[in-house]
Amino acid sequence: MSADIVTIFDTTLRDGEQSPGCSMTTPEKLKVAEALVELGVDVIEAGFPIASPGDFEAVQAIARKYGDRAVICGLARCRKEDIERAGAALVDAQQKRIHVFLATSSIHRQFKLKMAKEEIVKATIEHVKLAREFTDNVEFSPEDAARTELDFLTEVVEAAIEAGATTVNIPDTVGYATPSQYFNCITHLKQHVRNIDRAVISTHCHNDLGLAVANSLAAVEAGARQIECTINGLGERAGNASLEEVVMALRTRQDYYKVGTRINTTKLCGISRLVSSVTGMMVQRNKAIVGQNAFAHEAGIHQHGMLQDRSTYEIMRPEDVGYIGQNLVLGKHSGRHAFRSRVEELGYKLDDATFQRVFDDFIVLCDKKKNVYDADIVALIENRTSDAPDRWKLEKFHIVAGIGTTPTATVELKNDQGETLCDAAIGDGPVDAVCQAIERIIGIDAKLEGFQVRSISEGQEAQGEVTVTAMVGGQRYHGKGVSTDIIEASARAFLQAMNKAAGQQPAEA
Ligand code: KIV
Ligand code: ZN
Repeated sequence: MSADIVTIFDTTLRDGEQSPGCSMTTPEKLKVAEALVELGVDVIEAGFPIASPGDFEAVQAIARKYGDRAVICGLARCRKEDIERAGAALVDAQQKRIHVFLATSSIHRQFKLKMAKEEIVKATIEHVKLAREFTDNVEFSPEDAARTELDFLTEVVEAAIEAGATTVNIPDTVGYATPSQYFNCITHLKQHVRNIDRAVISTHCHNDLGLAVANSLAAVEAGARQIECTINGLGERAGNASLEEVVMALRTRQDYYKVGTRINTTKLCGISRLVSSVTGMMVQRNKAIVGQNAFAHEAGIHQHGMLQDRSTYEIMRPEDVGYIGQNLVLGKHSGRHAFRSRVEELGYKLDDATFQRVFDDFIVLCDKKKNVYDADIVALIENRTSDAPDRWKLEKFHIVAGIGTTPTATVELKNDQGETLCDAAIGDGPVDAVCQAIERIIGIDAKLEGFQVRSISEGQEAQGEVTVTAMVGGQRYHGKGVSTDIIEASARAFLQAMNKAAGQQPAEA
């Protein structure tokens, strides 16, 4: 790897969480933070501490738990109370950064801030200095930098560095820049900001025109050495630059960019699945690097070429990104030992009790399905290692549905006290009826906001994966369920979301 390293700054837990419907609970954020640390990101932007008590708590928890393995960053506007709150949330982190931002473009100055240029420069200096009282590691972002006049941007960036900023981030807040324009902007700053050698130049690109990754890479070519990005490209509106794409572009085209990252790329598909599952945001099948089709070759001519030599049509090896394809796994007669080896080859270390549960599920699945694929095994493992405390378990259900009949579901659940409770409900369809019956038993009032089904492997008997988003008491909860029966997968997904909601509420709720 080249000695010239690009810092990977992940903002999945801050900008990513700003994606509509993608809010995460603190335990979910901790789980993602752990995966980010294992992935090898340099900086985790854990949240915006002043935004809410929940944001503060999450940043604090991540700072305490992972501040020795990555730099933990908290966002703050150019306001005293924001910076103090970020400082307080990060106090226990061994490595911390405060990220201060203030808009600089004429549109934002005129319509949002109603501040003159001189006031912007003054506020920048004052608040960067204040942030430096909490940590030596301060990042400054002139928000909407890509639409800011270059001479003014130069002035603000220089003032921020003079005041103590160690990283200067140049956000394309609205995804308006083009690669050559953004390249020229970074080049201009390198040439005209007199103290630029005292700070790292960072990119933060939004994807409104689908150019976030291209713009980030253009900035690296111009000399930027930090990329702000998110897993699966989550983020405000069309999202941010996707971490997996920028990292694999730098790695695959190392011959061209001549820089490296510290990312363990074999973890990319795993963390993509985790983030998709906690946010309820599915990854499109043809998404670069982590989509289900990213390494699938359909055309005969391609398959023929691949059989001769993989390099004919493959620029990255699937195993380098932890891609789990359609490999056929062993049948139930292969036994526990072979199954455990496969689980380990897929990158999972399970304790004996969890392994036994997954193995039992595997045996049941083999009875339902002739071909069991790696993707099926991963779904079974993730189902058994989900964090949601199982206050309620699905025991049985029965549905009546069809044309000319009212969809009706009878559901039996067992709670963590060992009691079995049963109820029935009608609904708009069988899924709605099952969800209504679950709600009646648990006594939670939920509104189903999102419902998606995908097949996780191939063929008629493939397992279906259902992802739901449900609103309970003003908070969104996501759940995932997998089964060869779509209604069962739906019931499991909804119940997982309800278990998460019940975990946030008093036991008698
Ligand atoms: O897009 C943006 O400008 C931001 C800043 C807070 C860096 O997210
Ligand atoms: Zn942003």
